[in-house]
Amino acid sequence: MEMNIALLPGDGIGPEVIAQAVKVVNAVAKKFDHKITFEEAPVGATAIDLKGDPYPDSTHQVCLRADAVLFGAIGDPKYDNDPKAKVRPEQGLLSMRKQLGLFANVRPTFTFPSLIHKSPLRLERVEGVDFVFFRELTGGIYFGEPRGRNEQGTKAFDTNIYSKEEITRLARMGFEAAQKRRKLLTCVDKANVLATSRLWRETVQELASEYPEVKVEYEFVDAVAMRLIQWPKAYDVLITENLFGDILTDEASVISGSMGLMPSASLGTENKLFEPIHGSYPQAAGKDIANPLATVLSAAMMFDYAFDLKAEAQAISDVVNKSLAEGIVTEDIAEGGKAYKTSEVGDWLAENV
Ligand code: IPM
Ligand code: MN
Repeated sequence: MEMNIALLPGDGIGPEVIAQAVKVVNAVAKKFDHKITFEEAPVGATAIDLKGDPYPDSTHQVCLRADAVLFGAIGDPKYDNDPKAKVRPEQGLLSMRKQLGLFANVRPTFTFPSLIHKSPLRLERVEGVDFVFFRELTGGIYFGEPRGRNEQGTKAFDTNIYSKEEITRLARMGFEAAQKRRKLLTCVDKANVLATSRLWRETVQELASEYPEVKVEYEFVDAVAMRLIQWPKAYDVLITENLFGDILTDEASVISGSMGLMPSASLGTENKLFEPIHGSYPQAAGKDIANPLATVLSAAMMFDYAFDLKAEAQAISDVVNKSLAEGIVTEDIAEGGKAYKTSEVGDWLAENV
């Protein structure tokens, strides 16, 4: 297969971890006889420095002509403590999602046997945990209008707004995923308080009859926040709106003990983007110490979700598992064993694919 992949390394450790994913993708291409071309473009603080815009149109064009986008991370501390900054790297992320129509953010939580003891939860609670969030990504309070301040600047407001269509397309992805998994779908909302949540619930109830094998549960977001750490094995596929999903997927990312390893996909009808869940980790930038596995596993998700190439995705998961088993890992998970550099882990993975 011929594949054209847009590379958006972004800020902080982004370029280093993306470089390792590229090595692994190239190794997979060689093994399975694919022809892959990469086109790189700036995003985030890097793009502000270069073009004055965190998601410049030139980068958007690169994404549009690609079959998939592999993205590193966005964020630079120089903007964090300046509430008056006119442009911020995060705006790049939001406009990228919006312009590419990436309405579904897929964030899995699964365990790696060799890291499970790092979980903040007791072993029996976390062993075998395997669920996935489908977070709505281009609507809700993140984008709703009006937003801003009153004239005096003494009141501020944001608008949470959802259309049936936005809920339906996200919910369908959840139902379809559940059908291929353990056939349990949890709709996470706050329908006891919010009108938007009541529309979510109503819409999901209507869709449920089209997916008779899938059992649907409805839970309030506050209860899920609690149950997710009490009994994470109770979940299979969870669907939710943008803000709830933002919060709960951070909670979810620490459950398995492998925060640095969790990949994600952001999917639209036309475009698909893959990125590690961790951020830009500026303290580690340029030191060749960042853990590249989340980005490498995001590349595995790319083969699966963007190209439906399961064996290629599996080859990457397998080699990641092998590196963990053999201790070819970066310092964050080396635990007294030898710590390898980011680039050494990437080389090892590529060789062993
Ligand atoms: C995420 C991030 C972003 C979000 C920020 C950086 C805008 O936290 O991808 O979850 O809130 O969506
Ligand atoms: Mn977040």
